[in-house]
Amino acid sequence: MSNRFINQVAVVTGGSTGIGFAIAQALLAEGAKRVYITGRTAKTLDEATTTLGPLAVGVVSDVANLNDLQKLKSEIDKRGDQLDVVFANAGIAENNHLGDTTEMEFSKTFDINVKGMFFTVQTLLPLLKQGSSVVLTGSIVANKGMENLSLYNASKAAVRSFARSWANDLKARKIRVNTISPGLTETPIMKNGLKMDDAQLAALHEHAKGVVPLGYVAQPNEIASAALFLASADAAYINGIELDVDGGLAQI
Ligand SMILES: NC(=O)c1ccc[n+]([C@@H]2O[C@H](COP(=O)([O-])OP(=O)(O)OC[C@H]3O[C@@H](n4cnc5c(N)ncnc54)[C@H](OP(=O)(O)O)[C@@H]3O)[C@@H](O)[C@H]2O)c1
Repeated sequence: MSNRFINQVAVVTGGSTGIGFAIAQALLAEGAKRVYITGRTAKTLDEATTTLGPLAVGVVSDVANLNDLQKLKSEIDKRGDQLDVVFANAGIAENNHLGDTTEMEFSKTFDINVKGMFFTVQTLLPLLKQGSSVVLTGSIVANKGMENLSLYNASKAAVRSFARSWANDLKARKIRVNTISPGLTETPIMKNGLKMDDAQLAALHEHAKGVVPLGYVAQPNEIASAALFLASADAAYINGIELDVDGGLAQI
């Protein structure tokens, strides 16, 4: 185990479960001094913070709510911390059927995945150190037309676009901004967001054997290790990119 994040302070939005939680765990394993994790659900966040230990700080904060984002900033300010890394990872995935999608469904996906991503980074910007790093969680669907997911697909295309623009906008401060784009990954989003039952999940794993060149659905830690690479000094000259972490699914 290396210590690439020794003495560093990081924020992981959506750090209570899935990919974000795996990122927080990996940061602490690599020497981070403090990791702020967020989510909307206090109970899940408390459990995650307890598991991560005393160097983790849980802040209940909805990325779609600008007051909540200010609350997150205040919690960081209160401890006198400045940020080395922000993982803007919080997001939802819900099906929408073109033809009967409601305005509420549209707003929910875009408020969390797009507006939430934008204002997370904008709110935390004053705390980011010169030469720090921002990693956005996108998805391979940014470049795909997955059926009954047009809102989600489009929201992730916006995320990918943000990385390009912000790498440019933040160049004077030498802040690098990159996107990590996971493929199929086993997290609670499958049940909570996409409403898959156990049989559908089993079918997904079967399906992955055929469509993913590596033949399986990723575990969150496999996405986290790539996200940490982008955030680390190992990626010092990587800026504005999208890194697919999908076992090759989007490449064939
Ligand atoms: N799993 C996949 O196959 C996959 C593939 C590509 C991309 N992704 C992306 O990876 C990211 C993480 O998802 P995951 O798969 O790890 O799913 P997950 O386990 O459901 O994690 C989502 C996290 O985000 C939090 N969250 C959701 N809405 C939020 C909001 N409005 N404000 C603050 N936190 C919020 C959740 O906590 P609360 O619900 O308590 O708020 C949870 O901590 C998402 O951006 C997702 O789109 C996932």
